[in-house]
Amino acid sequence: MLIETKQLTKKFGGLVAVNEVDFTIEKGKINAIIGPNGAGKSTFFNLLSGSHLPTSGQVIYKGKDVTKLSPNKMAELGVARTFQTTHLFEESTVLDNVIVGHRLRTKSNLWDAVLRTPRFKREERKCREKAMEVLDFVELTHVMDQQAGSITQEEKKRVAFALALATDPEVVFLDEPTAGINPGETEGLAELMEKMVQRNITVCLIEHKMKMIMKLADKIMVLNYGEKIAEGTSDEIMNNPAVIEAYLGGDASA
Ligand SMILES: Nc1ncnc2c1ncn2[C@@H]1O[C@H](COP(=O)(O)OP(=O)(O)OP(=O)(O)O)[C@@H](O)[C@H]1O
Ligand SMILES: [Mg+2]
Repeated sequence: MLIETKQLTKKFGGLVAVNEVDFTIEKGKINAIIGPNGAGKSTFFNLLSGSHLPTSGQVIYKGKDVTKLSPNKMAELGVARTFQTTHLFEESTVLDNVIVGHRLRTKSNLWDAVLRTPRFKREERKCREKAMEVLDFVELTHVMDQQAGSITQEEKKRVAFALALATDPEVVFLDEPTAGINPGETEGLAELMEKMVQRNITVCLIEHKMKMIMKLADKIMVLNYGEKIAEGTSDEIMNNPAVIEAYLGGDASA
């Protein structure tokens, strides 16, 4: 077990977005979180990656309490994430997007980057090597010199993966990594997630595409109105009456 949440809760005013969730993320596996719109999935990710402070409860990473750590601190410890929407600098090249994105996330010194100080240039060289390495991993070397605005939607998703991988994470959180792309392209991204696991990177993803997730995930948690209503393998989830009722609505083919 790599990450554990204990009674993790996030309230926004009167709304309980995440409600006393106990969950474990298994090392070297593909862990998935599913649930209807507004179920609290992204909020749960925000709590795990340090973007939100929980109202109560704990996040334990490799046996240590990391509940109150910032996203940068979490990144240093090996936790990376993608966002539901990836904003790229459309006029810049794919390579520069990964270099700059990586720097902003890790060093968080915007002015160094904007003013291109000597320190920035030195570190940029290192970042460039890392960026080339992760772009190779996500199979985008052939478009790295193109403007980010000119690549396909699926390639943009791969850039998001590359941004997360640039910090050498032990675990990556992917928030709807295949949203808005077609089934053939989804397959390619699923293979990429399997490739991450083969490289010893633990994957945790939020996904709406049921067919894909049932095939891909080793373990699934179902959230509904902020509460965990089920947890288990694909088979266990598909046959769980509470899940069918709350989420699938009787249609598992979506
Ligand atoms: N920063 C915020 N302030 C107030 N309410 C929020 C905030 N973030 C999320 N919420 C609310 O918390 C609930 C859970 O939202 P969340 O984005 O976590 O859901 P989700 O499961 O990721 O949904 P989707 O599948 O649509 O992405 C929703 O009711 C949402 O409106
Ligand atoms: Mg979401």
